[in-house]
Amino acid sequence: MGSNGRSQQMHYTRIDLSQDIRVQVIAFLNQSLASTLDLKTQVKQAHWNVKGMDFYQLHSLFDEMASELEEFVDMVAERVTALGGMAMGTARIAASRSILPEFPFDILEGQDFVTALADRYAMYAKEVREAIDSTNDLGDADTADLYTEISRAIDKRLWFLEAHLQTSVETVSLNGTADSPVEVSKSKKARAKK
Ligand SMILES: [Fe+2]
Repeated sequence: MGSNGRSQQMHYTRIDLSQDIRVQVIAFLNQSLASTLDLKTQVKQAHWNVKGMDFYQLHSLFDEMASELEEFVDMVAERVTALGGMAMGTARIAASRSILPEFPFDILEGQDFVTALADRYAMYAKEVREAIDSTNDLGDADTADLYTEISRAIDKRLWFLEAHLQTSVETVSLNGTADSPVEVSKSKKARAKK
């Protein structure tokens, strides 16, 4: 289990969580540290390279998002050390452990950058939300709370990103399936032609 940090050295701490629990929580935190670092560098990549008529607002938004992720990197890493573990946060570790795919290098326009980031924020949001439950189940309410704080902020950023992409309205029926009125009106037109 070395790859997720579970075989690492632990420091003695007076904290009232057992070493077994702390080792498991630290494994989640170090996994998140890798993904958070990776996401931050990808958002910076977008900040530097985005082009098009929305350049300046996206350039500024992406910088704000990267700064927020930098805070989360620190919060997660320092929770590891507070629990007596070693924060594993080098670029090499982040690249090898992150759950995210590499950022695309063949895009130029703002919308493609927003889509690439929305895809990655959604994956990261899922990892963080799962970690809320996992650390809660382990009995570490403080780490679960840290994850909840991150999760709420990431969901908000996902909204910011998706608001750029939501150009048509989708209605969701009560059985949970989504359909687009655009598609509905197209099929109505097709029926009218018959
Ligand atoms: Fe900058």
